[in-house]
Amino acid sequence: MITLTENADNADNPVLRRLIAAEIAQTGGRIPFARFMELALYAPEEGYYTSRVGLIGAKGDFYTAPHLTPAFGQLIARQLAEFWRRLGEPPKFQLVEMGAGQGLLASDILTHFYQQEKELWPGLSYTIVERSKSLQEGQRRRLLAVPDGATLLPKVSWRDLDEFEPGSVVGGCFSNELVDAFPVHLIQLVEGEWREVYVGLNPAGDFEEETGPLSTSSLATYFEAAHLDPTRYEEGYRTEINLAALDWMQQVAQVIAQGYILTIDYGYQAERRYHPRRQTGTLQTYNGHTVGDNPYLNVGHQDITAHIDFTALIKQGEAAGLKTEGFTTQMAFLGGLGIANLLLELSTSTKRPPKEVMAEYNALQRLINPTAMGNFGVLIQSKGVAAATAPLAGLSLSFI
Ligand SMILES: C[S@@+](CC[C@H](N)C(=O)[O-])C[C@H]1O[C@@H](n2cnc3c(N)ncnc32)[C@H](O)[C@@H]1O
Repeated sequence: MITLTENADNADNPVLRRLIAAEIAQTGGRIPFARFMELALYAPEEGYYTSRVGLIGAKGDFYTAPHLTPAFGQLIARQLAEFWRRLGEPPKFQLVEMGAGQGLLASDILTHFYQQEKELWPGLSYTIVERSKSLQEGQRRRLLAVPDGATLLPKVSWRDLDEFEPGSVVGGCFSNELVDAFPVHLIQLVEGEWREVYVGLNPAGDFEEETGPLSTSSLATYFEAAHLDPTRYEEGYRTEINLAALDWMQQVAQVIAQGYILTIDYGYQAERRYHPRRQTGTLQTYNGHTVGDNPYLNVGHQDITAHIDFTALIKQGEAAGLKTEGFTTQMAFLGGLGIANLLLELSTSTKRPPKEVMAEYNALQRLINPTAMGNFGVLIQSKGVAAATAPLAGLSLSFI
């Protein structure tokens, strides 16, 4: 049995902590870790993502690519515009951004389309699928605050994924750092068998882990598919299983009639993701730009994430009728979309103050840094799209 208790510096949301403790008490004394993470991040109005707006960026807990530079959104927009062209320039083109955070990517993409894609713009609609109501409000405010906001906002609507008609989207569904934020099941090898990690309470009322039988047979199915054969792993090996990612993939595949799915996130293909040497898994917490590994601290005030298994998304997508267009790194993806030209333009720029040029150079460099964001995975899948002779621009260098 493992005990992970509060420490003296713990600064969690006491209402959320009580809410989780009450659910534990009401459900026989323990809940699967996945349920703990679900509540910690998304409990209505009290979870990490549902109770606040400014969690990303310099004043938040972590950075994402859109918070480094608008160039990220502009490069993504180039890829999305290529989707439109490959689809034969349909008069109505729908983009669906899933997990839009503070709305920076949306405002950068829409600004780019408004200014640079005059033919695509009239038929464009932009739907945001965002679980957190407080972030939805923040996204609306952000869109209104940008220079062309009053023109951009009418293009945007908010909708849950299960509110889309099946086979209704002609366009592209995309996300940046969404799937790593789904609640994961935690598993551990105990006496040669996979057991699930549950969260209970010790006599002092602190969260306490214990292992038990698998809470759902879907985990055993996943072990088979990902070749998580217990004999390959050492006693105590711990890792995360993102079952929510599979349901999500299936739902996204269903809503598309014709188009592409672009997924950017940290993670690897299964063999690397579940390598026997990755003994303690990939679960991480982010609080005030400090990375940690204890999800029971700062409950409701820190992000909890796990690296994603791209192989699972690929297989699930193919089972749901998607074609895998390719998988690459963010560095190669942005390379294919022309980030080198942006760097070149910057180095010959005489109009901007040197300080500003340096800041933009650093931001672009961070997007492609091979030891950080540059090593993120980029997966593109498609449905109902005619085969093309050349790869998509972002997949000029694909690893599958
Ligand atoms: C790590 S943030 C990334 C935000 C943004 N994409 C960015 O790059 O800055 C994860 C986002 O996904 C949202 N989210 C998590 N689960 C979701 C779900 N099932 N459906 C829609 N949005 C979700 C969170 O509320 C949050 O906005």
